[in-house]
Amino acid sequence: MMFDYESEKKNSEQKITQASDLGSLEAVRVEYLGRKGKVPALYTNLATLPQDRKPEEGKRINEFRNFVTRLIETKKKELVAQKREGSQKQLDVTIPGVPRPIGHKHVLTQTIEEICAIFEQLGFAVEEGPEIETEFNNFTALNIPLDHPSRDGFDTFYLKQKDPTDKNVNLLLRSHTSPTQIRIMEKHKPPLAVVVPGKVYRPDAVDASHSFMFHQVEGLLVDEDVKFSDLKGLLTVFLKRLFGESIKMRFRPHFFPFTEPSAEVDISCYICGGKGCSVCGRKGWLEIMGCGMVHPQVFKAVGYPKGKYTGLAFGLGVERMTMLKYGIHDIRLFFENDVRFLEQF
Ligand code: DAH
Repeated sequence: MMFDYESEKKNSEQKITQASDLGSLEAVRVEYLGRKGKVPALYTNLATLPQDRKPEEGKRINEFRNFVTRLIETKKKELVAQKREGSQKQLDVTIPGVPRPIGHKHVLTQTIEEICAIFEQLGFAVEEGPEIETEFNNFTALNIPLDHPSRDGFDTFYLKQKDPTDKNVNLLLRSHTSPTQIRIMEKHKPPLAVVVPGKVYRPDAVDASHSFMFHQVEGLLVDEDVKFSDLKGLLTVFLKRLFGESIKMRFRPHFFPFTEPSAEVDISCYICGGKGCSVCGRKGWLEIMGCGMVHPQVFKAVGYPKGKYTGLAFGLGVERMTMLKYGIHDIRLFFENDVRFLEQF
């Protein structure tokens, strides 16, 4: 059998080039390389040749087989790529995309923003202070005496002292947002009106109502001739905007070292309307914040002239407000990052 390698090369090349899809390319492959194809036939024929022609003829067959194989592989890659492109052309970009879940603000952030927004509408500025404070700002300047229980190491996280001989540069994690009052008054002269949201720290054992870190919002308004009635009016507007017009309020006399007189504010339980339920502990009232008129000793600590200014201050716990607002019974839920809880708000 005579096999014209040169013209078969041309033939096969033409057929492979013309194959327009993977099916027709496969047909060409079978024709040449398939079990009953031309190349295997050449090998069968090789066995019948005289010994001295075998090496040369074998080499030509191998060369031909490699030639066809290479062409087919290249063409196959081309056809596969074309097919992929074709299917991309059919992509329907008008099909709505797969929606990705979008997060939202933590419920405590929402409460803080709601509280600050109300005070901003009333002309207050929003300020922040550092979480690492001096003992002076956290206690001394706020008229909290040296033997006050809150100064104890069991009630405050103290940090390594810079200078053990100077009490005023002892550093700690602030146990309330009130020290920011000092920072603001040291920097600004009255009239001033600010609210200060932020984190505070206390070494409390964690349980359903305690956390070693929680949030407060502090408020401070200082001017000439600020009266207790201003404090009552301001907090009445604030709490009604936050909890609804129908709530009732009461101011109970209380003690804070940095205000005089001081009061705690209760609102009528908006769950039971004052009748008594599990949220208000059957009292009908909810303790909601502390407040009072800035103590003259505090003005003295920041260097304001004696008797010139009066001011009002208040502080509230963000977790407690949020728990009351939504009927949440365990403070730990805020910090466990369980989306099943968080996505409800
Ligand atoms: N700092 C107080 C606390 O952590 C809350 C507070 C009460 C702040 C009365 C005030 C205030 O500004 O006037 O318990």
